[in-house]
Parts: sequence; C-alpha cells; structure tokens
Amino acid sequence: MEQPRWWQHGVLYQIYPRSCMDGDGDGVGDLRGVLSRLEYYHWLGVTALWLSPFYPSPMADFGYDVSNYTDVDPLFGTLDDFDALLAAAHRLNIKIVVDYIPNHTSDQHPWFLAARSSRQHPQRDWYIWRDPAPGGDPPNNWLSVFGGSAWQWDERTSQYFLHSFLKEQPDLNWRNPDVRQAMGEVLRFWLDRGVDGFRVDALARVIKEAALRDDPPNPAYTPGQDPYYQLLPTYSRDLPELQEVIGFLRRIVDEYDDRVVIGEVYLPLPRLIAYYEAGVHLPFNFQLLKVAWQPLIIRQVIDTYEGLLSAQQWPNWVLGNHDVSRIATRVGQDQARVAAMLLLTLRGTPTLYYGDEIGMRDVAIPPALVQDPWEKNVPGRGLGRDPERTPMQWSAERQAGFTSGTPWLPLADDFMEVNVVAQRHDPRSLLTLYRRLLKLRASAPALHNGAYAPVGSTGAAGPAGVDEQVLAYTRTGSGNQFLIVLNFSAALVPFMHAKGHGHICLSTELDREGEEVTGTLTLRANEGIIVQIA
Ligand code: NOJ
Repeated sequence: MEQPRWWQHGVLYQIYPRSCMDGDGDGVGDLRGVLSRLEYYHWLGVTALWLSPFYPSPMADFGYDVSNYTDVDPLFGTLDDFDALLAAAHRLNIKIVVDYIPNHTSDQHPWFLAARSSRQHPQRDWYIWRDPAPGGDPPNNWLSVFGGSAWQWDERTSQYFLHSFLKEQPDLNWRNPDVRQAMGEVLRFWLDRGVDGFRVDALARVIKEAALRDDPPNPAYTPGQDPYYQLLPTYSRDLPELQEVIGFLRRIVDEYDDRVVIGEVYLPLPRLIAYYEAGVHLPFNFQLLKVAWQPLIIRQVIDTYEGLLSAQQWPNWVLGNHDVSRIATRVGQDQARVAAMLLLTLRGTPTLYYGDEIGMRDVAIPPALVQDPWEKNVPGRGLGRDPERTPMQWSAERQAGFTSGTPWLPLADDFMEVNVVAQRHDPRSLLTLYRRLLKLRASAPALHNGAYAPVGSTGAAGPAGVDEQVLAYTRTGSGNQFLIVLNFSAALVPFMHAKGHGHICLSTELDREGEEVTGTLTLRANEGIIVQIA
C-alpha cells in the first residue's frame, strides 16, 4: 500500500481564531496568540491546525464575510504574523489549513462595491443580480440560511442581488470566468505562502441553477423548525455543474506538492461521493454531529459510509465545529469520553474542535451579549452559535488565561476547574485521555490505516439489548488487531465477543491498562475500552 499522506494519518484540530488566545489584550484572539500556544498543540499530538477566517472583514459573520482574501485583519494581526505562525508550526511538524470562502464575499469587498456602483460596471456580473418579479417581489422564493429571502434589493441600481447567507455576504457568480480566475489567484496566494491546504466554506452552494427556478416546498417541514427548512434547496445547492468547479480548484492545488482540499458539505453520505469524485480529498462527514447518540444508529452510519467509499476515497469524521452545539453538551460529560475514543479509533481523519478536548460546554449567552447574526435574525430558536464559540479555557487565572482584557464572549463559569492547566497534570482528565488516544493512534498503524469491521455481542448468553448499549468494532492492519468496545449506557454491561483474548491498552477512565481480556468484557457505565488482541 502507498504511504498514507499527512492528511490521512494526521489529526485535524479546528482553531476559531477569535477565541483561541488573545495576544494584545483587546479581548479577541489573534494570530500571535495562536503562535504563543503552538507548544500546547504539539504536546497534545494534533498534526494539523485548521484556522477559521482571519482575513480583513467587517465581521458581520465574524470573518466569513471577507473584504480582502489576501491579507490579515488588523484585529488578528498582520501577514508577517501569519508567516511567523506558519513557520513555527512547520518547525513542529504541524500543518496549517486555512479557510477558503468561495461562495460569497463581504458587501464591503472592492469587487462588490464596484459591481454595485452601476449596472454597466464591468464587474457587475461578478455577483448574481436580477430584476424584480412582477409586483416588485424578489426574483424567486429562495431563502437565506440566516433567515428571510435570499435576495436583497439594491436601491441605487434597482435590482436584487443574491445572498445565501447574510445580506452583507453577496454570492459570487462562479459562472463568470473572471471570478474563477480571481478566486484561483487567492488559492495561489496562500499556497505560495506555504499553507498546507484549504477548508472550503459552503462548497455545495457555489453554483446555483442558471434559470434560478423556485425551490420546491419541503413536505416534511413542521412549524417551529428552522424556517430555512421550509423549502428543499433543489436549485440553490448541490448542482451538477459544481463538480467542474471543484475540478478547477483541485487543478490549482495540484500545482503544489502534497496539499489538501477539505470541503464543508452538509449533505447525506451518498452525496459526499460525488465530491470525492470531483476532487475534494476530504468532504467533511458531519454525521456524528447530526445523528442520535445511539450505538445502533452510529453503527449504521459507519457501515453505510464504509460501504460507499472506494479504496481511493479516504474517510473522515467530525465531532464538533463552530456552527454546532459542543459534544460535551450534546452527549454529556460522561459520554464525551466515549465520543473521544470513538472519534480517534474510527478509520479516517478525525477533526477535533478547540476546547472539546477539555470538555468545554456550550455557554448560555445573555440576550444583551449575543454576537451571532443568526441568533439576531432568527431569535429564540436555539440557532445562535455563540455558545460553542466562547474563549478557550487555558487556566484558572483571570479570564481563563485567554486575555488580559474583556473577552468578546463571556467565559464559561466552570473555567476554574475545566481548563488546560488543571487537566494537563491530572492523569484521569479528559485532556489526558485525548492525549493518550492521539499517542496510541499515532503509534499504531492499525488505528489509522487498518480495516474496520463491526463486532456484535455473541451468543444467546449475551444479555438482551447489548448491541443497543454497546458499539464494538475491530481495526486490523500491519499485523495488529484492536477491539474497541464503547458503552453508550449508564449501566454496567457484560459484552461477550469471539475475538480471542488480549489486553486493555486504553480505557476511558485510564485505569484498566494491562488488564487481560477473554471472551467477556465487563464494561462499567459510560466506559470505552481498547483491547489489543494477542
Ligand atoms: C459555514 C461556516 O462554517 C459558518 O460559520 C458561516 O456562517 C457560513 N458558512 C457562511 O460563510
């Protein structure tokens, strides 16, 4: 077998720069702050950092509204700071992946200011403009992900422009060759600087149907759900022509050695295959963010994914990101340990979200402190993303060691106990578990390259319902076999298996190492175990 590429055997860790580390005391994290914490990521054992946007931006969507793709916002530092961070990371063998936001710019980007200046401007067609429907209504019924119509009326030029997200985030027109050219140059700019790859934002939305037909109603919509789900995005997302755009991006990235293209694609598993085929190395697999935390369901997800992927298509798993509730909140503190073991023993590249390794939880944000425009546009539905974006809890010191100023979002009130310093030297902490899992994974090829096979509890002797409580599988390769057994329940469960005997090399409580295991393994409540089969 070919040597795995770095993005296959490595582990990706997402940094949300606003909340990582504040180097200048303004309450917002910055690149110098990230640089000052590199030693921590190295110690932890992550091998690649993905940085959410740090480009110049009016921050209507906290950096996902870019007004200049080839610079650093002063809030986050300078290009020199970026270069220093990249060089220091590379010295530690840590790769740097940056965000690439092709679907939309900021409405303050010079391209949009030009396009908006007059209908005759040569850059007018860089965005998607349409006359009103008869009666002055928007040109079609498309909805913005962040609430309301996806069309904004432009008074000066008397046309609507399209925005899939905020009205401050107008969608680029990727059917225009000059847009492609300009956005290709953005990739080259960062590749020339030495970045190791891109996480492509909102990839499935980059091309819209040329005729802009109305999206059909969603028959499964129930009132009270996110209003965006009223329509099925048939004509506004995941169009066949997108595959050719992906090929274009991939060809540019392939002009450079060993870089990765990761796609943010919120689509069902079978649809991800088209993105692999078009050239995305890792179309994010968000299933663990979405499905119920139940062994039978998760097993089905794994089996479906494994069944769909060809030998060339490399799996990946995501447990958290800056757009969804944190894992410790979704499944609870006890299951967060099981989740860590699951993420780091499945086949494929894992993505960790900052702070999940210490069990950070969603922080309730008082209405007066809400920052996220989504929450402001569609309030009270739990759509806001501030709770999972609060500052990293580094220590029990003032402001959790994050800033000498006032943090841009409130800190969790548990930061005195839940922080890196407290957990770093605690042999039973979640952080220690993450570090041990990362170490084991790095040293055992079977755990990153090895084949996956599900394991059921055996024999009528097994108590009824074990497979509803326990998820078990093997990873086999390079002459080794590991049996991973995860108890999703708060009950003690005897798990019988036919995998022979071995010894425990890691348990979620970090206290059963070396224990001999035969055909029956008794799992404590919320316990996960990795057995090395003899
Ligand atoms: C997905 C990003 O992850 C999210 O944070 C952002 O608001 C939208 N894309 C729009 O760029």
